[in-house]
Amino acid sequence: MEKQISVVLVGAGNRANVYASVSLKKPEIMKVVGIVDPDPVRRELMRERYSVPHENCFENVYEFVKRDKFADAVINGTMEDLHVSTSIPVLEKGYDLLLEKPFAVNEKEMNELLSVARKNGSKVVIGHVLRYTNFYKAIKNHVLNGDIGKIISIETCEHVSYHHMVVSYVRGKWASEKVCLAPMLLAKSCHDIDIMLWMMKETEPKQVVSFGSEFQFGKDKKPEGVGTRCLKDCPRVDDCIFSAKSNYLAFSRWWQYVWKTLESKKDLTLEDKEYSLKTDNRYGKCVWDFERDGNVDHQAVVFNFANGATGTFSMVGGCAKPERNIHIVGTLGEIKGTFEDSRYVLRKMSPSTSEMGYTETVYDLNVTGDMIGASSGHGGGDEKLVYDFLDYLNGADPTVSCATLEDSVISHRAVFKAMESKINGKIIDF
Ligand SMILES: NC(=O)c1ccc[n+]([C@@H]2O[C@H](COP(=O)([O-])OP(=O)(O)OC[C@H]3O[C@@H](n4cnc5c(N)ncnc54)[C@H](O)[C@@H]3O)[C@@H](O)[C@H]2O)c1
Repeated sequence: MEKQISVVLVGAGNRANVYASVSLKKPEIMKVVGIVDPDPVRRELMRERYSVPHENCFENVYEFVKRDKFADAVINGTMEDLHVSTSIPVLEKGYDLLLEKPFAVNEKEMNELLSVARKNGSKVVIGHVLRYTNFYKAIKNHVLNGDIGKIISIETCEHVSYHHMVVSYVRGKWASEKVCLAPMLLAKSCHDIDIMLWMMKETEPKQVVSFGSEFQFGKDKKPEGVGTRCLKDCPRVDDCIFSAKSNYLAFSRWWQYVWKTLESKKDLTLEDKEYSLKTDNRYGKCVWDFERDGNVDHQAVVFNFANGATGTFSMVGGCAKPERNIHIVGTLGEIKGTFEDSRYVLRKMSPSTSEMGYTETVYDLNVTGDMIGASSGHGGGDEKLVYDFLDYLNGADPTVSCATLEDSVISHRAVFKAMESKINGKIIDF
């Protein structure tokens, strides 16, 4: 029987709550015993939700680490600019750590965290939830089994929906690179770069080049006659695709971000929400009125690998349907699939069996039953990552999916190099 793992939440926000929910579903394997968050509303909401004693709630990590160690691990769900500074004290105190991605915002602090973790012998796992999904795990297994031979080329893309793009990267917490310190490629697509390099583990990136630009947003692109707040003064309130009215009132898309300032209010009414969007809620502001300080809304990245293989990744913010595609071509076959459809095709070269010269097997994970239990976040990846983390702390060897800190360094470095290329317009060597 595995030991119940006790955790302290540092940064008791959306993501920490997602991971911590496992303790309500399976209290025998995990228990939340402490909370660290400077926001008193968040602290109290999470304290109540997880029945944490008052004396185990802290405003910052420095107060928390003054106390003798009283839990097995920390789940760090702070925003990216705080990941390293809030993790180092807890690692020094001897806690193991589940840390949200991206775990650092530049190479210097990445190395700093790595050296503290190594020095303390800490177990650190990064929130690369896609690796734990049945879809990517199944594809990784084909690669490991040699089903498509040696990989020649890997193409992946992430299509971010127009409403997700706007709520997070125009109106939201990742709107300004200067403030959040994480460009969209790092904040959003470090997952995708991680998946690519995880599939390409037999080799490593040698060079990268990247281009990106701001296509749709920024004050200079504001259409004529548009207002300042959707619900206050905009004649386009009923037909603009970015309208706060359709996205946040008619539908409750991204409620966890949009109603953050009203979190302390019980029984929110429509009038409360309308008033907020008309007055001080940033999600009620016209999308073209935000400062864009070098942000992109789309970016392409090309890798040259040490063994001669190539990889391309394309991030497009502003699509109708959110979608992640993958197409891996190997010397013996290929795999092509769409994550959101939970479906991929494995083609194997087979000159003697058909006129076409290949066999094709369709894997529909919805039909095979592999997607049962995958309705939770990121195709079930959120929950599976927690189970994997708890097993790891209980002494199990890291699984194929396990995104340890050491194992996540390469993909973070790749994003930093891709950003360097995009900014300087040069091919960057690793
Ligand atoms: N793995 C994934 O797929 C995934 C998905 C979404 C977001 N994320 C990442 O998760 C992280 C958190 O995002 P979120 O939306 O949950 O954020 P959030 O704003 O909901 O939560 C962050 C919390 O940190 C608290 N905080 C601020 N300063 C602090 C400090 N000094 N010490 C402790 N707590 C502090 C805030 O009060 C807030 O409650 C981000 O880095 C984001 O990129 C990961």
